[in-house]
Amino acid sequence: MKMKRDIAQTLNELLSNKFSTIEIEKMIEKPKHVDHGDLAFPCFRFAREFKQSPADIARDLGGAFVCEGVHKVNVVGGYINFYLDIPILAAKVMSDITTQGSHFGEKQVGQGKAVTIDLSSPNIAKPFSMGHLRSTVIGNALANIVEKVGYKSIRINHIGDWGTQFGKLITAYKKWGDEEKVKTSPIVELHKLYVHFHEQAELDPSLNDEARLWFKRLEEGDAEAAKLWEWFREVSLHAFSLVYELMGISFDSFNGEAFYNDKMSAVIDMLERANLLEESDGAMVVRLDEEGLPPCLIKKRDGATLYATRDLAAAYYRYENYSFAKSLYVVGNEQSLHFKQLAAVLKKLDVPWANDLVHIPFGMMLKDGKKMSTRKGKVVLLEEVLAQSVKIAQAAIEEKNPTLAKKDLVAKKVGVGAVLFHDLKVFRQNDVHFSLEDMLRFEGETGPYVQYAHARACSILRKAKMDMQHGWSTTYETFGEEERPLIIQLHAFEDTISEAVKEWDPSKVAKYVVELCQHFNHYYAHVNFLQNANEQEKQQRLTLIYSTTIVIKESLRLLGIDAPEEM
Ligand code: ARG
Repeated sequence: MKMKRDIAQTLNELLSNKFSTIEIEKMIEKPKHVDHGDLAFPCFRFAREFKQSPADIARDLGGAFVCEGVHKVNVVGGYINFYLDIPILAAKVMSDITTQGSHFGEKQVGQGKAVTIDLSSPNIAKPFSMGHLRSTVIGNALANIVEKVGYKSIRINHIGDWGTQFGKLITAYKKWGDEEKVKTSPIVELHKLYVHFHEQAELDPSLNDEARLWFKRLEEGDAEAAKLWEWFREVSLHAFSLVYELMGISFDSFNGEAFYNDKMSAVIDMLERANLLEESDGAMVVRLDEEGLPPCLIKKRDGATLYATRDLAAAYYRYENYSFAKSLYVVGNEQSLHFKQLAAVLKKLDVPWANDLVHIPFGMMLKDGKKMSTRKGKVVLLEEVLAQSVKIAQAAIEEKNPTLAKKDLVAKKVGVGAVLFHDLKVFRQNDVHFSLEDMLRFEGETGPYVQYAHARACSILRKAKMDMQHGWSTTYETFGEEERPLIIQLHAFEDTISEAVKEWDPSKVAKYVVELCQHFNHYYAHVNFLQNANEQEKQQRLTLIYSTTIVIKESLRLLGIDAPEEM
């Protein structure tokens, strides 16, 4: 942001322009402690070059430092701490926010280049797991965030709709299935059949042969097998679409694994031509010994292709169709090896974009310390979780604000937002501890807390019915220490987004917006801003509140969460 750039430029001038201003700017950090100013510059890196101690360098630089917008400089050890001039900073930040609105914080670093995001990707005929939930919300937020910095995002739902499990499912359906039951609750019913198949196959292993046969028929295009598969796929996708709709998430492509059935032979040819395919126990593999990885299985003994083969075909397809600058895969930690192998095989094929594939892993969803599992019939259905959350939100609204208009709609936004925020506030690699009670609290780091701060700020603006003839303020001479944390935080929005992109981590934005709301709530509680205020003070303070609503709302939007104006 502008202020950092100005400071970097001044520092570089004092350093006789020996460095790149951008490099200097990158070194400027947020002090760990609020008492240490608003921005800090560590001088340790220059000690060798100048043959001086970092503390001496900091003292010399700090002593000579003069820059508009910085009202005080303080040197502590090897650090120069800057205290920004709040009225000047406020004018810069808020002129941007009031003129750009929701576009505030946008950048063009992406230059319109494409980023494909492989997200959600549940498996047909199985419940939408908590892992798929995490992939969906993290992937969707990342898509919004990369768009904010100027990339074009392409959300791809790589549906798991192919593989030997469909042989099992067809076998099970033909033996024990009931059409009506599958029609009424497809996922539950199909999953039951699948679980039942496994139980029975333990008693009677010949069932497995039957299943293999059905899958073979399916791969060969047998009409009956194909019809059942299509039906399972359709009813499952319909069930998933209800969840997506509730979460307000849409996709650019639903090309799943089956889509690549006719695209794998080209990949296998390429591997052959490059002399990379080797036989191993009748199967075809690409050896990855030099990379220190186990071989990547391309074709099974019976000729069946695999998950990895389909992912190779998908990678090519995506590059050819979207010419991505980055291709992200938002998939749990447990598939790290698979994505390492994928990239390694592509590197062996010498594709120049092999390094642009990025696996974005995330931790597990835990309940009572254990993984929330969808296996063994112990199913936690996501739609039930969401419905329950909405119900709790409904009860809270009924209690707090019974006369609210469109209560059901608001409850939906709060209930769903709570589930999403609970997931996104955690650094993605960490495990999330699932607790409906925690996620719906109105205090602490929760979705409802942030949404409530936003609604409260909107209500202040509504009540103040600011005379828009005067417009938003453009000067902020009445601002001082009370406003400092809020202004500094608004100023940090752009950097926060850059960090979120750099680390592919939406939790940066979630933590940021919690902090913004904390500062806002503190301000609201401590500054009696509309009583005992003259017109000028009122206008400036209301402009600050307005700017805060814009940035809270935009932060939530990036996370895929709505911000109701009343709740
Ligand atoms: N369907 C897979 C699963 O549930 C995830 C697919 C991830 N995407 C991919 N291109 N492999 O485990």
